[in-house]
Amino acid sequence: MNKRFYVTTPIYYVNDIPHIGHAYTTIAADVLARYHRLLGQDVFFLTGTDEHGQKVEKAALGKGRSPKEHADLLVENFKAIWKRLDISNDAFIRTTDPNHIKTVQGLLQMLWDRGEIEKRSYAGWYCTPDERFWTEKDLVNGNCPDCGRPVEQIREENYFFLMSKYQDRLIAYIEQHPAYILPETRKNEVLGFLRINVLGDLCISRPKQRLAWGIPLPFDDAFVTYVWFDALVNYFSATRYLAPGAELAGEGNFWWPAQHHLVGKDILTTHAVYWSTMLMALNMPLPENIFAHGWWTIEGQKMSKSVGNVVDPHAMADRYGADAFRYFLLREVPFGLDGDYSEQALVNRINTDLANDLGNLLSRFMTMAEKYFAGSIEKPAPYGRADNTFGRQCVNAFASAHHKDLWSRLQFNIILDHIWEMVRAANNHIAQTEPWKLARSEPDRLRDVMFDLWNTLRLTALSLYPFVPGTAEKIWKQLGLRSLTEETAESIKGAEDFPQGVFDIEWLPGYAIKTWKSEQLFPRIEKEKKMTGEIKSEASVQGERKEDTNLIAIQDFAKAELRIGKVVSAERVKKSDKLLCLQVDTGGMRQIVAGIGRTYAPEDLIGRKIVVVTNLQPAKLMGVESQGMLLAATGADGVPVILIPEKDVTEGSKIK
Ligand code: ME8
Repeated sequence: MNKRFYVTTPIYYVNDIPHIGHAYTTIAADVLARYHRLLGQDVFFLTGTDEHGQKVEKAALGKGRSPKEHADLLVENFKAIWKRLDISNDAFIRTTDPNHIKTVQGLLQMLWDRGEIEKRSYAGWYCTPDERFWTEKDLVNGNCPDCGRPVEQIREENYFFLMSKYQDRLIAYIEQHPAYILPETRKNEVLGFLRINVLGDLCISRPKQRLAWGIPLPFDDAFVTYVWFDALVNYFSATRYLAPGAELAGEGNFWWPAQHHLVGKDILTTHAVYWSTMLMALNMPLPENIFAHGWWTIEGQKMSKSVGNVVDPHAMADRYGADAFRYFLLREVPFGLDGDYSEQALVNRINTDLANDLGNLLSRFMTMAEKYFAGSIEKPAPYGRADNTFGRQCVNAFASAHHKDLWSRLQFNIILDHIWEMVRAANNHIAQTEPWKLARSEPDRLRDVMFDLWNTLRLTALSLYPFVPGTAEKIWKQLGLRSLTEETAESIKGAEDFPQGVFDIEWLPGYAIKTWKSEQLFPRIEKEKKMTGEIKSEASVQGERKEDTNLIAIQDFAKAELRIGKVVSAERVKKSDKLLCLQVDTGGMRQIVAGIGRTYAPEDLIGRKIVVVTNLQPAKLMGVESQGMLLAATGADGVPVILIPEKDVTEGSKIK
């Protein structure tokens, strides 16, 4: 096994507010970093921010700040969210770090000296927001093929990296290294693209008069370097000044190349083509793997600020806990495929996998340990595994969850599936052996069963640690164990070669472990229940009540869930002058159709805080689904008047 393990995330544009997409890549990288630390490897996990370029320059100007001041403020958003999500990055690189700038200039100079860069006069179509040149044939309906916005014709002198030279070498490299680009479908896309198209040279400069906020070319300071050239180099420059022992590395580089660059599919080309050919031209080794994961949409829609459906990882972590959010993202969708996010799906996962399967298993075990043995778990003697079907099931599931192919191909959802095989097997084992009966009739057998359950929970916690570190530590502690990370390396390494040995842990004769205080891992989220079962009964109760009286009990009123909502967007429902369709944030996005169109113009409602009934069964009005109802009073002349809170209240707040 390689002694060192180096994993990276993209460096995110500093002026974006961190969202679920950024969290996804970084959580995945964190899982890998934690896992390889458990294996006893030296790990370097790098993330950071991309701080040069037009967007930052413009945004800073708009706020009356220098670009660096602007970046210094915004970078804190990323640092804070990584802390909140328990991200264990070893370093955080910023492209404005002086050491990074020095490295970029050093590499540019090297390429220039070797004749890998040329100055040319160039005319092309330029997309200003994306800071990218396109050829005529790239354009889609005359617009930028990436963002769809208009492009402008620009002629100027610029510097070009002679990327075209490397086309054949790159194709051969990808063909000879099947794991270089994963998943395989993405590798095939890149290969298909490279085989069909003629690779051009890459414009790597911008004249300073057009863009000042960048790294000056060391051989011509009338130009700054193209953001991607600057950004991609971060993966290497960090190994020179941020990685452990970097300052001692001298000319040799302990950390380069990386084992995995994790990226979203949106930036695969820049990594697979630009970065790979840059490294070839520099005579530097290529990373072992570039993994392009899929794209999250939100309840079927593209995530965007204008739609107002951007998922804030802070809010998710505050509402459900960082571990539940981490687990959901990696369990729900195979890493590599696109996924659709909904808060309901997250709640379902918490309730079924985390609260029901895992949480209940631990709490049942803890209760029985306390009740039958006053919390004392002993290894039975003699203790043979050969006839223990349950033990074998767990060992096999554990060995599968730690299979190196799954880990090198980043198949997180399958790994989690194997971990859940252990959890389910343990729950079944309780159902089959009925320890409450053994307690009366077969105390020795009960001791065996309890030890096996304890051992399975131990292996489960250990396997879960990279995904849900806080939860794994909680389980570990309740089981009466000390440091989770101390013992693990040997067990996991053993799983590959001697799976049976994993279950048969070292145990001193006569030694008993004392379990700790029982603590609930994941409370069930009741929201889901309210959205389904209870509503039906409420409807029927209301129907009956009509006949007898208008009064209702306070418990009945409490069944209605009222929340503050913020209107994010609003439009008229087609062919209706009365109905408006609103996208409302009530702590999650929902669509509400309301009959207020004759009194309110859609644009007047945007940003307004309103009161929403959030647990109504969805209904269709003029074919458009409404997921709730807004509250309005009947004003003079019968016109609706919407209710608004007297002071500002956060969206999602409950009304009691
Ligand atoms: O592209 N689903 O930065 P960026 C999944 N600075 N992942 C998503 C996502 C979504 N909807 N939205 C974003 C840049 N991501 C450059 C990178 S690297 C040398 C320079 C994630 O802030 C995904 O990892 O636009 C994607 O590749 C990345 O955020 C883009 O981040």
